[in-house]
Amino acid sequence: MESRVEQSEDLDTRALSLLQAMTLDEKLSLLAGGSLFKTKGIPRLSLKPMKLSDGPRGIGFHSALRRATAFPTGIALGASWDPDLAREFGEALAREARSVGAQVVLGPAVNICRTPLNGRTFEYFTEDPELNSRLAVAVIEGIQSTGVSACVKHYAANNQETHRMKSSSQVSERALREIYLPVFEAAVREAGVWSVMAAYNAVNGVAACENKTLLSDILRREYGFTGFVVSDWFAVRRTGSGANCLEAGLNLEMPGKGSRYRQSRLKREYEAGAFTEQALDESLRQLLRVWLRTSPDAGNPPGERNTPKHQQLARRMAEQGITLLKNESDLLPLDRQRVRRLAVLGQRAGKRNCLPLYGGSAGVWSPYEITPIEGIRQLLGNDCEIVTDPRGADAAVVIVGLGHRVGGDFEGRDRTDMDLPAEQQALIRTTAAQNPNTIVVLVSGSPLAMPWAQDVPAIVMAWYPGMEGGTAIAGVLFGDVNPGGKLPVTFPAALSDSPAHSDTRRFPGNEDAVHYEEDVFVGYRHFDREQIEPLFPFGHGLSYTHFDYRDLEIAGDDWRGDGTLCLSFHLSNTGVRDGSEVVQLYVACCVPSLPRPVRELKGFKKVFLRAGESCTVTFELAARALAYFCPEDLRWKVDNGEYELAVAASSRDVRLQSRVTYAV
Ligand code: BGC
Repeated sequence: MESRVEQSEDLDTRALSLLQAMTLDEKLSLLAGGSLFKTKGIPRLSLKPMKLSDGPRGIGFHSALRRATAFPTGIALGASWDPDLAREFGEALAREARSVGAQVVLGPAVNICRTPLNGRTFEYFTEDPELNSRLAVAVIEGIQSTGVSACVKHYAANNQETHRMKSSSQVSERALREIYLPVFEAAVREAGVWSVMAAYNAVNGVAACENKTLLSDILRREYGFTGFVVSDWFAVRRTGSGANCLEAGLNLEMPGKGSRYRQSRLKREYEAGAFTEQALDESLRQLLRVWLRTSPDAGNPPGERNTPKHQQLARRMAEQGITLLKNESDLLPLDRQRVRRLAVLGQRAGKRNCLPLYGGSAGVWSPYEITPIEGIRQLLGNDCEIVTDPRGADAAVVIVGLGHRVGGDFEGRDRTDMDLPAEQQALIRTTAAQNPNTIVVLVSGSPLAMPWAQDVPAIVMAWYPGMEGGTAIAGVLFGDVNPGGKLPVTFPAALSDSPAHSDTRRFPGNEDAVHYEEDVFVGYRHFDREQIEPLFPFGHGLSYTHFDYRDLEIAGDDWRGDGTLCLSFHLSNTGVRDGSEVVQLYVACCVPSLPRPVRELKGFKKVFLRAGESCTVTFELAARALAYFCPEDLRWKVDNGEYELAVAASSRDVRLQSRVTYAV
């Protein structure tokens, strides 16, 4: 793959000659940052500082001191199920980074949504490792195609904010391999990612920043990572020593002057013989290659920021992520010719979400933001009267949600429950009682409880749709846009149904440990196994048109060894509107040799079809799709025997299925 840094001998030569020219002190000085978002440089050798910038959904104002395009947040991209869009987004994000002089984008953020309460769920993509991997690979490829480095984060098992600086995620090798690590494996093996951010937390007792098993054995030796590992900001404070971190495989401590990688401290450790110059050189070589590769004078494409092109991309991403959860009697889309009086109300209708540090380090300050009410006004112009009293209106749109304040979707704090604020719930109920055509639009980045769901005919999940979000929401409400999203996470009916919430050892744990006792049964894997009806299942999302699935065909019935299986079926848009469908392929082992999920997502495609159009959808499955990580032998294994393949519109809506036999 072209994006792999290691393919360039020239980079190696340049990194080595720089190293040869450096004094020991100069070398030691490079291991810790120079300021909040910059490394140090060595003017004597014309090595300019390397600038890094947040973050996952746009260039953070706090890191670049510039306004930038605010794209929808990670979970909205997760809901788009659209790797092509993710690639486009990655490229745009990198161009914005380049335009502020940054060489590294601190993203994508890819931790698995293990609990609905995680304050950072809004930044992450999904609860499923396959969807996670496909999107992460695309974002990274997009970013790195421009010569900017992606920095996939947070490695690893950083799935909550409570005690994030202290506690250890106690997670089995099997759950790590099947659920939490696949996205990092794909980031390295498939996308050739140039940098990785080590998390705040410890994993199985060892801080992620000095975790040799994670950083060296798995990431470098097993997956083949050749780039650099940077600590999460201030994460290194808790580790044992600089030598420990160096030996484990941490290349760069951020930010500032460093703690364990503080130059004076490293020097003492070096003089005491705690590490060798050779180890230091190797670590710096890994760092310098990316540093040089991404440098502004390395002939990389130019940057651009806040362009109409990026703003239109932000809008398309919002449209593709907005998820129609409920639509009784086809209340939506509203008919612009017939709606003369529209009530628009709710605490989030006029609120901005794209402001500095809103939500934490993923906050982006955009030059403008179309709020939902502005989007609706712009779309309707003078054709329709917009009021706040639902009584007598043709329809009522209640726009509610969480926002990026403490208690909402906010880095550093988890939520305490899945509820909308009480006054918002009351508003939904009173509006529904006053107007039968009540539509709830949710602006939030994580699953919500909806005890009022039965009271309203239509529910739209808008996520945090970015600076053009209001335009996208209005387009969906009035049918200019057919919503393209499906849920990337299960929405539980009650928090206690969720696998991390059966007791407090699992969540929030304590300062010492969080026990991942649900093991591989995360998200829908748990709901399916326990036969719990979720409020809305993983993969669910409605459309304004209808899709018909038929004629499943499996090519060849002799599936063996490393061979692939080819599966195809016919998909038709049988409705009267154009639209896209996210078709999902789930796999189950019929007689597993250890407890396995009822079904697991192993492929998906987002297919756009015009009204009346049909196409053939094909999937190719490799045997790895059938594999589990054997806890005894500590390796991937595939059982011989029968497997069920299910083509589905959601994890609970199987449309076609068939059995196949596999032999190693
Ligand atoms: C976050 C990272 C972020 C870094 C720099 C940390 O608090 O965990 O995701 O990239 O700050 O802002």
